[in-house]
Amino acid sequence: MRREMILPTLLVTFVLLSLSSARPPHIVLIVADDLGWNDVGWHNPQIYTPNLDKMAQNGVILNSSYVQPICTPTRNSLMTGFYPYHTGLQHFVILDDIPGYIPSNFTTLPQKLKQLGYSTHMVGKWHLGYCNWKYTPTYRGFDSFMGYYNGREGYYNHKEGTGYDFRLNEDVHYPTHGEYSAHTFAKRAIDILNSVDPQKESLFLYLPFQSVHEPLEVPEKYENIYSHIQNKERRTYCGMVSAMDEAVGNITTVLRERGFMDNLLLVFTSDNGGNFQYGANNLPLRGNKNTLWEGGTKGAAFVYSETLLKKTNYENTEMMHAVDLFPTLLHVAGGIPDPGIDGMNMWPTISENKSSPRTEFIYNIDEIDKNAAIRVGDYKLIEGSPGQSNDWYPLPTREVDVQQEDSGDSFSADTEYQLFDIKNDPTEHFDISEKYPDVVDRLKKRLEEYKKSLVPAHVPPPDPKANPKYYNGTWSPGWC
Ligand SMILES: *[C@@H]1O[C@H](CO)[C@@H](O)[C@H](O)[C@H]1NC(C)=O
Ligand SMILES: *[C@@H]1O[C@H](CO)[C@@H](O)[C@H](O)[C@H]1NC(C)=O
Ligand SMILES: *[C@@H]1O[C@H](CO)[C@@H](O)[C@H](O)[C@H]1NC(C)=O
Ligand SMILES: *[C@@H]1O[C@H](CO)[C@@H](O)[C@H](O)[C@H]1NC(C)=O
Ligand SMILES: *[C@@H]1O[C@H](CO)[C@@H](O)[C@H](O)[C@H]1NC(C)=O
Repeated sequence: MRREMILPTLLVTFVLLSLSSARPPHIVLIVADDLGWNDVGWHNPQIYTPNLDKMAQNGVILNSSYVQPICTPTRNSLMTGFYPYHTGLQHFVILDDIPGYIPSNFTTLPQKLKQLGYSTHMVGKWHLGYCNWKYTPTYRGFDSFMGYYNGREGYYNHKEGTGYDFRLNEDVHYPTHGEYSAHTFAKRAIDILNSVDPQKESLFLYLPFQSVHEPLEVPEKYENIYSHIQNKERRTYCGMVSAMDEAVGNITTVLRERGFMDNLLLVFTSDNGGNFQYGANNLPLRGNKNTLWEGGTKGAAFVYSETLLKKTNYENTEMMHAVDLFPTLLHVAGGIPDPGIDGMNMWPTISENKSSPRTEFIYNIDEIDKNAAIRVGDYKLIEGSPGQSNDWYPLPTREVDVQQEDSGDSFSADTEYQLFDIKNDPTEHFDISEKYPDVVDRLKKRLEEYKKSLVPAHVPPPDPKANPKYYNGTWSPGWC
């Protein structure tokens, strides 16, 4: 080697060595349940979420980040990097007594991160199957789990129907009975942070809050923040959002105190749109949770980091989908996803505002409900009925039960296909399918192409063996 080559070579070697010995960043993934587009401070100044707002504003607000219309499918995408129509989870959610799950041959994000040396912890709601131990969090890549298996339950009593649903790892856990779950989960997350040495290990903390799914329950002091809101459901709901924000604030305080923030990426997203029947609001977007409209599928989301983002304090409008978080987070951790995954690495898009590698995505394909939607560029094609709630639901102002006010139930599309230009009409007021039949055709063809790889929805019938009476009054694995 020539003399003048030696110094640069040494330099390069040194840089590579120091890069490879740098510890992979800590990753905190926070998911809010049924949080509406209009229910975060950075979209609506009426909402008091100072901790989230601060991170959103000093990080990168994701303004074109899509999720599935409902809980289980979105969580499936986060954990696998695959669309639910590739795992059989595209139809509705896994109900308490239905033996559904992510098939065992899919590798989960925590499993991948464990291979890279991460400590992996989960605090909150699973909703990805529990009929057999092998489908539960501690068998799907998490070192520890505190939380519940099903989709909903009381915030204090942890009861869903006739069963108790709360665990620490595999054990039914009773000490937190009676405590509001936002507090329980914040304390648990903080215990984990205190048990990890941020200089010696890399942490993956998955924090899918119970907040702000129904039932509408919150300690009075949070509801009192909104004493000016007349509608009881909305007032309670907003209090729930603020309780979650306080929990996040408590956790980020400890992240900072313990030195995690120097090398950390935090992602916050809703799992689907809000449910107006329980106080949430998606304005100006159309539709509701469990619909293919933007109100059901456009997630309130941001990323935050004090060291890893090259550009901050801006709103990112590049197209991304929940399936993309798997390869993106894996990339940040220094890993690579298995080939064939649906997700795409969005790290250059998020951290540098580079244009998105994604030009299309699937909102969902549900062959049982016979509906689907696809996005190609600015256009969105909806096939069949988008769902049951098709209006632009206003903020409830009166002291009424919002649950009685669903005026959109009777939606009936005359056309089998609806076409929207989301860039110019993000609120889906104008179906332009008749005006642009060629665009409809083009998107139909793309959708048919995607449908070829559809895995039929796995929706087994309810199984009476799930009944909590066989498990000392708890929802427990062991019946499939
Ligand atoms: C962010 O999304 C909202 C809702 O779809 C839309 O109205 C707004 O124009 C978007 N902002 C930008 C900068 O694109
Ligand atoms: C899992 O198995 C199913 C059924 O055999 C197959 O369709 C699918 O491609 C597999 N997925 C992965 C990620 O291995
Ligand atoms: C946040 O921490 C404060 C102070 O310890 C505590 O009073 C409050 O209950 C915590 N809030 C949540 C939601 O955990
Ligand atoms: C991000 O990229 C978009 C599209 O290229 C551009 O309009 C916007 O100004 C960029 N924002 C920042 C903060 O770089
Ligand atoms: C059965 O459930 C009760 C609460 O309903 C609990 O106190 C008790 O510890 C449980 N027994 C076992 C063996 O888990």
